[in-house]
Amino acid sequence: MNDYPKTARLMQRGADFLGSETAILCGAMSWVSERNLVSAISNAGGFGVIACGAMTPELLETEIAETQKLTDKPFGVNLITMHPQLFDLIEVCDKAGVSHVVLAGGIPPKGSVEAIKGGDHPAKVICFAPTLALAKKLLRSGADALVIEGMEAGGHIGPVSTSVLAQEMLPELAEDHLIFVAGGIGRGQAMAGYLEMGAAGVQLGTRFACASESIAHPDFKKAFFRASARDAIASVQVDPRLPVIPVRALKNKGTEAFTAKQREVAAILDREDIAMNEAQLQIEHYWAGALRRAVIDGDVENGSLMAGQSVGMLKEEEPVAVIIDKLMAQSEEALTRR
Ligand SMILES: Cc1cc2nc3c(=O)[nH]c(=O)nc-3n(C[C@H](O)[C@H](O)[C@H](O)COP(=O)(O)O)c2cc1C
Repeated sequence: MNDYPKTARLMQRGADFLGSETAILCGAMSWVSERNLVSAISNAGGFGVIACGAMTPELLETEIAETQKLTDKPFGVNLITMHPQLFDLIEVCDKAGVSHVVLAGGIPPKGSVEAIKGGDHPAKVICFAPTLALAKKLLRSGADALVIEGMEAGGHIGPVSTSVLAQEMLPELAEDHLIFVAGGIGRGQAMAGYLEMGAAGVQLGTRFACASESIAHPDFKKAFFRASARDAIASVQVDPRLPVIPVRALKNKGTEAFTAKQREVAAILDREDIAMNEAQLQIEHYWAGALRRAVIDGDVENGSLMAGQSVGMLKEEEPVAVIIDKLMAQSEEALTRR
């Protein structure tokens, strides 16, 4: 990082916290963020995060062990708060000595932050903060760092853009806390902007999904290279009784299938065969299956091509090390010009 002193200085706090060379996280992406991509990111000086998604504790244990064989650098594990075996998964991370756990998909349930920090190998906790009030609450409840993620991002999204979240949160929080900015970052110039505003680092997903080390199917990657920003659209909620978290993905037949799935789940709800949280879990299982179909099977018509708006800046497959180096160089150039 000696080549990029201005950027390295702004990233210092974040990098120290992560234990990595740069404060660039590759956000967990279900099916994509597995041993190969995660270890490649950490080996290249970034911070990789395993996407646990719907994995069982046994599968997660294996994934962590296999990742540890490929890198001796730190990496994190992303756990979805609504996973029915969340506490078993936390135990798996603890046993394996995972240094950082990211809690995603909602407010961490009671006791989860304490469990992560209070095991045999206490880990650092990173949470997603959708609003300033919640950010403060999460920090009070023991979160060591926060990610703020705007609606430009790929995957599940909130309603507010990254630039607005950054303006709301960074001036209030960044001096005393570690805040990582995510959503819509495709180039180092944008990264430099958020670092200058006080961010401890950044998190990217879409930019890394098609890295050479990513196991995503070649057709999944091709769809990304062909797409422009406006092709990455947010899903819509079709039934007011069934609140679904919007998902940003490239428009295809799968987008329409999601509408049908919502109607199907809403009908089951109407018959009161299931509770609301079970209905929402069914929707999440649907997404996990649809994403697998696209990422692993290469079914880019019917599967889910979760992608952020920065997808339009992706033109070719590049090794992770090249992507990180480009981001750092672009950031340095921007900071030098100022
Ligand atoms: C294909 C894909 C799958 C994702 N899966 C997850 C996930 O399982 N858990 C999670 O917390 N975030 C997930 N995300 C969000 C990323 O971790 C990251 O925060 C986001 O991609 C950052 O915004 P960007 O796409 O604009 O770079 C996913 C994103 C993509 C593109």
